Parts: sequence; C-alpha cells; structure tokens
Amino acid sequence: MEPCTYVIFGATGNLSKIKLMPALYHLEVAGLLPEGTKIIASGRRAWTLEKLHQEARAMIRAKARNGLDEAVFARFQARLSYFQGDLSVADMYPALAALFASHSEYPGNVAFYMAIRPADFGTVVENLSTHQLLDETHGWRRVIIEKPFGYDLESAHALQQRLMRYLREEQIFRIDHYLGKGTVRNVQVFRFANVMLEPLWNRNYIDHVQITHSENLGVGSRADYYDGAGAMRDMIQSHLLQLLTLVAMEPPASMEAEALRNEKVKVLQSIRSIPSDAVHAQTYRAQYTSGRIQGEKTKAYLDEDNVPPCSVTETYAAMKLYIDNWRWAGVPFYLRTGKRMAENQSVVSICFKAPPKQFFRTSQLQKMRPNWVLLGIQPCAYLKLEMTVKEPGMEMHTRQTTLDANLREGDVPATDAYEDLLLDVIKGDQSLFLRYDEVEAAWRVVDPVLRVWAMERDYIPTYPAGSWGPEESRRLFEREDQNWRDSMNPATKN
Ligand code: BG6
Repeated sequence: MEPCTYVIFGATGNLSKIKLMPALYHLEVAGLLPEGTKIIASGRRAWTLEKLHQEARAMIRAKARNGLDEAVFARFQARLSYFQGDLSVADMYPALAALFASHSEYPGNVAFYMAIRPADFGTVVENLSTHQLLDETHGWRRVIIEKPFGYDLESAHALQQRLMRYLREEQIFRIDHYLGKGTVRNVQVFRFANVMLEPLWNRNYIDHVQITHSENLGVGSRADYYDGAGAMRDMIQSHLLQLLTLVAMEPPASMEAEALRNEKVKVLQSIRSIPSDAVHAQTYRAQYTSGRIQGEKTKAYLDEDNVPPCSVTETYAAMKLYIDNWRWAGVPFYLRTGKRMAENQSVVSICFKAPPKQFFRTSQLQKMRPNWVLLGIQPCAYLKLEMTVKEPGMEMHTRQTTLDANLREGDVPATDAYEDLLLDVIKGDQSLFLRYDEVEAAWRVVDPVLRVWAMERDYIPTYPAGSWGPEESRRLFEREDQNWRDSMNPATKN
C-alpha cells in the first residue's frame, strides 16, 4: 500500500473525536498505516500543534481498546499536524494548496474526509477543485462523504450532479459505517459460505424478516442535525436498508466491489414503492416522551437541548416493505429503529414458515412455534437458530431450543467499523462504500413516506423512553400471531 495524506475537515468535531482519531490510532497499533502516511487535522479553532496532540491523546485514551500505548502514540503523533481554516472562507483553499506545495513530506495521494455539515459537501469539493487540490498529477485524490447524502431524492441528485463536475465515481467514497461492521459483513459469509440455508432462503420457506436497530441513547447534543432528519432519514434510509440488501441479495458474481454493489442495488430497485395512500398502513412513526432507562429518569425528546417545542420529528420509525422479485415476492420485511428504547440492539430476525401440517397440535395446548434464524449485529455478535424439540418425559410436549454460535471469541473487543473503512480508502477498495445508484434507490424507497409525513405536522404518537416503542406499530404485521422480536429469549416471544 502506498502512503497517503489523510486530511480531516471538521477534525475538532464529534465524529473525529469518537470515531476517526481512535480508528486511525488503532490502525497504527495494528501496523496497518503505510510508512510515510500523514494526517492533517483541519478545523476552525485556533489549535496549536501541542493542543492537537493533547486533544488527540484525550480522544484516543477514551476509546483505545487496550489503553493508550505510549510508544504507539508517539509514532501516531509524529504523523499529525494541524491546519487551521474556515471552509466557508475562500482563502483557506490556496493556503492548503500552498501547504502541500511547500512540504514534501506530505504524500501526493490525498484522502479528504468530510466530517462536516452535509450542506457544505458540494461547496467544499468545488473549492478543492478550483484550487487544484483534486488534481491527480502527483497521486490519487479521494473524497470521503459522510451520510446523509442529500436530504431526499431531489437533493441527493443535485449533490451528485455537483460532485460529478469535479470528481469521478472512483474518487467518491460514500460512507455507511454499518457496512464496515464485522458482524454486518458476516451476513455475507453466513449466506454465501454455507450451503445449508441457501435452499431455504426464499419465499417458499421464509414467512417474514425483521431488522431492528434500537438504542438506549436519546438525541443528546445532536438535535441541530437530528430534528431536521428524524429516524427514517437517519437510520432507515441508510443503515437498515443496507442491512436489508445484504440479507436479500442474490449471490454476486464475485466479491469485487462492482459485482457486490450490482446485486445490492437490484434489491433496492425491486422494493415495491409505497403509494401515498398506503403510507399509514406500511409505516409508523413516534417520538419518545420521558421515561426510565436502566433506572435513570430521562427527558422527553421535546425537552432535549435545541429541540423546537412543537417538533413532530420521529425518533422511532417502522416500515413494512416488499421486494418484488422471484426470491422474495410476498415476503414482508419489517424495519424498525428507535432512540431511547429498552435495549441497545441491532438484530436481523428471520422467521420461517410454520410446518405445513401441525402433527403435534393435539398433544399440546400451544401451537407450534416457527423456526427463527437470528443474526445479532450488536452489542453481541451471534448466530442463533431456534428449533422445536420434544421435552423429556412420557408426554408429547415440545419446546424451543436454540443452536447458538457466539461469533466473537471470549472478550475480544470488536474492531470499529471506521478502522476497516479508513483503510479501504487508502487501498482504493470501494466494496464497502455506497455507489450513487444505491443511494438514489434508497431515497426512492423512503421519499414517498417522508412526503406524506411532511404534510402531517400536527401530531405524532409517542412512546415512553425505556420501552420497546409504541404498541400500535404492531398494526404493520399481516397476522395476529406476528409480533416484533424484542428479546432474544425464545421463551418469551414467538
Ligand atoms: C448514525 C446515526 O449514523 O448511526 C445515529 O446518525 C445512530 O443516530 C448511529 O445512533 C448508530 O450507529 P451504531 O454504530 O452506534 O449502531
């Protein structure tokens, strides 16, 4: 791998603090940063190099998996420099170009990480281009764009048009950090490295699929962004639809970036669009009120800092989707996400159909339970297969048992998604980044819903913090015996 210069715009902000700096440090620990790689942290604040080093130390100390290693940190620190500048001021760009021109230690391969306001992506890229900072004469130039890519279909399209004036698709790395999670990548391995389930992985055997992401945390200090976004844009348009593509895609021709992305985009394009008069039947939104999380009292969304008092932004969103292709026709996919929910959990739960004949029904009171495959993404990484077995004893009673594979050995902490993704940028591997047609197809799925919700601004249902969300969201299910899988305990749910 060739060395590069990582320029982080927005380096004094939250993303850099909690994700980027720790991820780059962990790459240093693993010896994966190519010799000569440099990191230019850029922000508006007047930090000296010493201040940057202090801040970086604090950021890393808070996140380092095995504590901060002084020798490794010394190597890491030697790569760091600070560039003060305001991205909205035109002078900043020639100054940055001059820095490159006058310091030969900065490798000519440059990755610009946009840890900045999404509204500024287009302008910053345009300015970089105007000042020849995207010129590839002395090495590659790549731009990493955080989500959200646009605010809706139209603005995503406008942003794309603007970027394409200055960049080729191979230079644009649209990040969805879910794709960098080891356990998310495991969905592909589970599906395509094991032959056992493939014959069952379709409409003939699968009743429905649920994809849940729930969080304990509230909106915290992010209301400025979140109140304009809401759960549908923040989680479903990006992370949950990406998870859905991995569960539903056809085997790709190879694991190369384009082959993979071709299959993922086909799934998104096959999702049946939701007409405006079906939005209520296929979606549900709500907002958290006060409640208790792990015994602690928590505020209502409307009482969080910077949330407008009459906000109807959803902090919970659920939707039912159909993928109109041969494999999945008629199988509902239920997606759900919420803040301030009972547990932190990301799980894909696949419910199989009931056996065609209930042979054992007369011998027991309860109906046979279906088989489930549960793919735990976080906090625990597991693969569980729930099956029915006979209980010991003379009577013909059955019960559920779970074949349980924990996917992480012992207490080995997971690597963070950003580590893989930041390294992939240096390698030029786009397989875990979004191609524009994927982003566009995902907006097409959620856009009709957002349009209806945008018109209904008078009222939003609520759910108490610390709960599993609003009970009424159950109405998305097609049958009475279906319900959200809230707990991984098979004894408590069907
Ligand atoms: C981010 C969202 O993209 O993903 C956040 O903006 C959300 O609102 C986060 O909390 C969830 O990511 P993770 O990795 O903590 O599951």
